[in-house]
Amino acid sequence: MQIGVLHARIRLEEKMIFTELEKRGVDVKRFHIEAVPLSLDADGAREDITQVDAMLERCISHSRALAAIRVIENWGVPCVNSWQVAEVCGDKMATNLALSNAGVAQPRARVAFTPESALEAIEELGYPAILKPAVGSWGRLLARVNDREAAEAILEHKATLGTYHHSIFYIQEHIEKPGRDLRAFVAGGEVLCAIARHSEHWITNTAQGGQVTNYPVTDELREIAVNAAQAVGGGILAVDLLESSRGLLVCEVNYTMEFKNSVEPTGVDLPAKVVDFLLEVAEGRELVPAQRAAAVDAAQQPTGGAS
Ligand SMILES: Nc1ncnc2c1ncn2[C@@H]1O[C@H](COP(=O)(O)OP(=O)(O)O)[C@@H](O)[C@H]1O
Ligand SMILES: [Mg+2]
Repeated sequence: MQIGVLHARIRLEEKMIFTELEKRGVDVKRFHIEAVPLSLDADGAREDITQVDAMLERCISHSRALAAIRVIENWGVPCVNSWQVAEVCGDKMATNLALSNAGVAQPRARVAFTPESALEAIEELGYPAILKPAVGSWGRLLARVNDREAAEAILEHKATLGTYHHSIFYIQEHIEKPGRDLRAFVAGGEVLCAIARHSEHWITNTAQGGQVTNYPVTDELREIAVNAAQAVGGGILAVDLLESSRGLLVCEVNYTMEFKNSVEPTGVDLPAKVVDFLLEVAEGRELVPAQRAAAVDAAQQPTGGAS
């Protein structure tokens, strides 16, 4: 068996994963995304990539990761996580719709296309309201607007100075949470462990200084985290949750999860769990969504004789 790892800069997480793969004697091939041109021609599949049994995607840039695994999966290599899952999780609007369709609780949200209609949506949700880039991470460019003047200012700045991504306004109801949010790590439909991220700031990302403690896996947390993971297509995921007066709500689902600050507080060897899941996919014991769809198609094909 051979495992591929598609990566960019090697962070502590990737080091931990490589160490774990090495410890288990797995044959690993590394592909640096900046050095891997991919052909889109019918005969363009790269043999060094198609020969791996599964590809672990550990890139930093969502757009690059998404493009690469789209091609690699098209060549028949199961990717962790799969292209479909990355596409849904990398875009907060797409996640929102997937969760809505599956009946998973989340903050109310609106999408608007001009500052005027965004203001209308904000006022409908009420102050404070949250504006986020639909594609983004690490708590960057999030804004909590407390009143109409602040809303007008942010919307004007986005409209005038924003990049392409800011031409769509993604607006969420603000959740009055208790100085922390929660994160559940899910693999193959099971919750591995959970953490709370504490901060004096309303943005609790560890990239913004949030502090991590272990959080017990309650029945409520397990149920919503598993449902959220399933709604976006399954895989190995970090589900961010907000505690609210109407119970737990899903804030977002992360598909290239960062876990370096969570191993110590939870006592769960998360790099080992990533490798466990990856090997299950490589061995065909865990199906990524594309394989699952193919399996359903195959099952629905009429078997010989019926004409
Ligand atoms: N609607 C909200 N209400 C209250 N806090 C929020 C809300 N949305 C986000 N936050 C806070 O901001 C953090 C980052 O938001 P998130 O949507 O996960 O964006 P990112 O992709 O940048 O991590 C969350 O972990 C949470 O602490
Ligand atoms: Mg987040």
